[in-house]
Amino acid sequence: MAGQREHWNSRSGFILATVGSAVGLGNIWRFPTAVVRNGGGAFLLLFLIIVLFIGVPMIIAELTLGRKSQKNLVSTFSTLAPGSKWWIVGLIGWAAVFIILSFYSVIAGWSLIYFLGSLLGFFSGLDTEGLTQAHNQIVGNPILPILGQAIFMVVTVIVVLYGVTKGIERWSKIFMPGIILILFVLLGRTLLLEGAAEGVLWFLRPDLDLINLNTALDAVGQVFFSFSLGMGAILTYGSYLSPRENIPQSAVLISLSDVIIALLMGLIVIPALFVFNVEPEVGPGIIFVTLPAIFNVLPGSMIWSSLFFLMLSFAALTSSVSLLEVVVAYFVDEKKWPRPAAAISLGILNFMLGVPSALSKGILSDQIILGMDILDSMDFFASNVLLPLGGLLTVIFLAWVWGTDKAMAEIIKGSPHFKWGKAWSFVIRFIIPVAIAYIFISGILG
Ligand code: PFF
Repeated sequence: MAGQREHWNSRSGFILATVGSAVGLGNIWRFPTAVVRNGGGAFLLLFLIIVLFIGVPMIIAELTLGRKSQKNLVSTFSTLAPGSKWWIVGLIGWAAVFIILSFYSVIAGWSLIYFLGSLLGFFSGLDTEGLTQAHNQIVGNPILPILGQAIFMVVTVIVVLYGVTKGIERWSKIFMPGIILILFVLLGRTLLLEGAAEGVLWFLRPDLDLINLNTALDAVGQVFFSFSLGMGAILTYGSYLSPRENIPQSAVLISLSDVIIALLMGLIVIPALFVFNVEPEVGPGIIFVTLPAIFNVLPGSMIWSSLFFLMLSFAALTSSVSLLEVVVAYFVDEKKWPRPAAAISLGILNFMLGVPSALSKGILSDQIILGMDILDSMDFFASNVLLPLGGLLTVIFLAWVWGTDKAMAEIIKGSPHFKWGKAWSFVIRFIIPVAIAYIFISGILG
């Protein structure tokens, strides 16, 4: 049905929507938390190396697979290798998407609650101790997090219902520029705080002793999560591309935007942690405690805080939309379900899967899996296990089953002057499979 497939209206629409998928809670909530957990600059260094050698080439790989097949994730594998069992890779991606969306909507729901709370002045004037208490009360409440999650899921379903150009593309164009503006204001304010320099140094100066396989696995997981890789989101967006699109150039633009936003966030949150003396163990609460503390030293704190959490919710929305789109696209393409029916039923199913995560900081907090609560273990399993595994199998498929020659033929349709073709093929065939397999297997065993 390639002839009927919807395509992006414009290049900028595609780039913004893909950046919208990449930029989200992964950059704003997960990245600073992972940096703190792994000791600062050392993690940042690993993250940047992995972005360069795995992240950017993988974005090119997924966009190319999607554009060639013009199909959803599962069907891409069965179209490019008919009669094989490779479609199973699509199922791994599917599982990852479903699990990530289930806890992603919980955290996005917290963000919505913080938006309303800020509007009502609930956090004004609180110090970090008060903010920590407020955070624990909010996420530990038996009803509020489920309510936030439900509202967020309804909005995600509505956007996906409208389809690619009217839903995803339009909203991304409006909200992505907004979030960047707010981040710059916050950055200016944090860097002016007394004592911020110490945090900036901690963030930027790598202590090489802290690098080990667990840090590397965490960094791989972070790059996959942040770039929306290994589960077909980028592949699905690639499938709405026309052959004119310059894939390598788009991949660089998307990666740069994602990394810049993560770095900005690190530079905002980490110095503030030092200034306000917030214990890094606050964990995922870091941004929900530290950021409101920065807002509280700004004039008009309520306004900044509400704007920020509104923008955060939108950044999360452009990502969650891409998650739901991966699963919806399959039912629309292959099972010929009407888009609304697919979006609504999968949204409801996913909401139910997310409820235990929503309760995991409160009444279910004593349910511990692998030393983590339900939400954190879902995150670990999907991001550090399923995504690298999906990514590994995807590159093996591209490099050794479909073939990098065919991929190159597809890439140069839109970028005849792509100079890095040989380097890209080499990295895809040898470096990435070996690196992911090594880090993944030793990280999991160790
Ligand atoms: N990349 C998004 C973020 O950093 O928040 C999360 C995400 C979206 C992961 C879409 C995977 C995905 F398919």
